[in-house]
Amino acid sequence: MDEKKFYITTPIFYPNANLHLGHAYVTTLSDVLARYHRLMGDKTYFLTGSDENAQTVVQGAQKAGVDFKSFVDERIEKNFKPLFADLNISNDQFIRTSDQKAHWPGAVALWKKLVDAGDIYKKEYEGLYCIGHEAFITEKELVDGKCPDHGTVPERTKEENYFFSLSKYTGVIKQKIESDELLIVPPSRRNEILSLLEQGLQDVSFSRPAAKVPVGIPVPGDESQVMYVWCDALANYITALGYGREDDSLFKEFWPGIHVIGKDILRFHAAIWPGMLLSAGLPLPKAILVHGMIISGGKKMSKTRGNVIDPQELLKEYGTDAVRYFLSRHVSPLDDSEMTLELLKDAYNADLANGLGNLSARIMQLAETHLAQGTRPDVAGFPKEYTDAMESFEINKAAEFVWSRIQALDQKITETAPFKLVKTDPEAGKKIIFDLTQGLYLIGRMLNPFMPDTSKIIKDAVVENNKPQNLFARKD
Ligand code: ME8
Ligand code: MG
Repeated sequence: MDEKKFYITTPIFYPNANLHLGHAYVTTLSDVLARYHRLMGDKTYFLTGSDENAQTVVQGAQKAGVDFKSFVDERIEKNFKPLFADLNISNDQFIRTSDQKAHWPGAVALWKKLVDAGDIYKKEYEGLYCIGHEAFITEKELVDGKCPDHGTVPERTKEENYFFSLSKYTGVIKQKIESDELLIVPPSRRNEILSLLEQGLQDVSFSRPAAKVPVGIPVPGDESQVMYVWCDALANYITALGYGREDDSLFKEFWPGIHVIGKDILRFHAAIWPGMLLSAGLPLPKAILVHGMIISGGKKMSKTRGNVIDPQELLKEYGTDAVRYFLSRHVSPLDDSEMTLELLKDAYNADLANGLGNLSARIMQLAETHLAQGTRPDVAGFPKEYTDAMESFEINKAAEFVWSRIQALDQKITETAPFKLVKTDPEAGKKIIFDLTQGLYLIGRMLNPFMPDTSKIIKDAVVENNKPQNLFARKD
């Protein structure tokens, strides 16, 4: 039988500041989808990483007063990797764009393809470069002379650059998105990019002077220029798979895949990246899932605004699975979501301590007392509501469905009172208790992508007929 392949990526993050809850969110969302596909038996590859050859990162190192390499190495080892480990992220690879062995050969190979296609040309260019965006922005986007997203004055530059002929791909990209061959989810983001395509794409500056970004990837044949950071960064999705390297077996096996990104970087992924792939004669991604933003105090959570929640603090307070649960269930993958510490605490107490924790304890207490050891439940398959939600990336709906099952089981206990029934009609009572353990077993299985450790504890408890530990102690 032909095994299904599933390749999923997160954005690669700038390592100039600590990752915040927004970064934890997109990584957890992608991880839940990866784990779900592994659970379904699909051959899955999950990639995340860091976007290092950026002016914003160079500035970060300068501010910290350390050389670039020590700066980025420390950020990755002391912030990125521990956070992803604490979140139980199951990525198969962590790609760093400063990695001259893993990333650079593919980025160079891709550049050469664009050159071969006649899509790279030199041009004198004057523009306003916003370092927060790592992109040129236009005069009319400015508010009081500043970038409205970052509140900073852009750099006026006059440079000789290499340009990429993106404009010529407008029509093909539009057609691929309209036909859903390149699926953009949700429809609001699909419309947003289609209306941009309607206006026609401009060619983009694709290199910077090496003096400005000395850490960038040199343009083949012109050492005075380095690749524009987005040209370099987008390539990670295929360089990580070995594109342009001797062993490109992962690329052959897994490309094209699915990108999970925030709406802030839609244009780069749904216009520039497809343009590059078309120019190089490579397949376009299958889908781009564009998630909404975590809002805090009415504003997008961002390091420039300073309204960030540190995921490490939440992890310390609530533990891995509670944070994963909260991000999966209470943040919409398709819309913006307001987030507060109170919401997290309420959800923890209501859904985890009272809901899941309480139910597991009740059922396992009954099973331990009344069922013989080795009364092993056997549940095949998954409910359609659950798989449908997961297949359409709505992990919050899938989690909601699991919690509706939790409620239903709670209700069943209340209605049937098996603890009384076993005394009057032992056979009927045991049958209900067995059914309850089956129900709990399925809940445990469905929790696997969201809460891997809790899922295992529940499944083991049901199979071994043991009372699980107090799963989630209430917090006041
Ligand atoms: O843009 N809510 O990296 P970045 C939810 N290096 N998600 C958020 C968020 C928020 N408030 N803030 C950020 C870059 N994110 C580039 C990407 S990819 C080839 C290069 C998430 O460190 C969201 O997924 O600024 C967003 O797209 C991403 O972090 C941007 O991270
Ligand atoms: Mg950003």
